[in-house]
Amino acid sequence: MTQQQTIIFDGQKAAQKILEEIKSKVSSKDKKPGLAAILIGDDRPSHIYVKNKEKACQFCDITFHKYFLEENTPQKELLCCIEFLNKDPDIDAIIVQLPLPKQFDVEKVISSIDPKKDVDGFHPQTIKDIMAGKPGINSALVQAIREILKQTEQDLNGKKMILVSNCDIFYNTFVKELEDLMLDIEVIFSDNKKLEQKTKSAEILVSAVGKAKFITRSMVKKDAIVIDVGTSLVGKKFVGDVNFEEVKKIASFITPVPGGVGPMTVAMLLKNVYELSQNN
Ligand code: GUN
Repeated sequence: MTQQQTIIFDGQKAAQKILEEIKSKVSSKDKKPGLAAILIGDDRPSHIYVKNKEKACQFCDITFHKYFLEENTPQKELLCCIEFLNKDPDIDAIIVQLPLPKQFDVEKVISSIDPKKDVDGFHPQTIKDIMAGKPGINSALVQAIREILKQTEQDLNGKKMILVSNCDIFYNTFVKELEDLMLDIEVIFSDNKKLEQKTKSAEILVSAVGKAKFITRSMVKKDAIVIDVGTSLVGKKFVGDVNFEEVKKIASFITPVPGGVGPMTVAMLLKNVYELSQNN
């Protein structure tokens, strides 16, 4: 049997369409939505991600407020900054760029954001609401994955999905948020003893580990949908978790890095900003 043609997802193009929809909605409102981004330290990828958010906000006419704090900022100072933004009526949404330097208690920081401005969907109150089936902000990343899955145009019902991840914060609500897609989802850590056996069983493989070229061809099922969330900076280039050149030869659908999940996540984040601005 000949291999079907692999679809390489164009995240830039798909994201642009979503940004245009947001821009059009924003233009019909009297008040511009406002997003505040707090970035601590010199982590280069984080600076690039925040820059991408800023560019997307400029395109959509969303006001972007940048707060760049030094690496050794005390937690108290960060909490003060968040408190100030919680009260500012021009700010509809707050994002604290992760990862944070070691001196910070991430849970405490996230909990200090007003849940009404929690654009990431990471606040415990937001998670509680989502898990209880109440309406709330869905994580931008999970929404991006949902949209990418839709664009595969494949029948997803009952498909086995494996998510390889090492970070709970991003995936607390993953299974719940995708529950309506009727997938069979399993979340595993990258040090799972049966890692290769598990990834190879996945009809949909999502990798969010952050190790360059971690997923090799032998770990992927033929004709799988492969969604690469991980990004590592190698020299000056972003590289995904998936060995793209190898894996694209057997996948039915694959997202590249850069230009796949990243732009879609930014677009979904801005969708959340718009939604929050309408609720506040
Ligand atoms: N760092 C990388 N991606 C994200 C994200 O979606 N939200 C936050 N807060 N930090 C990130």
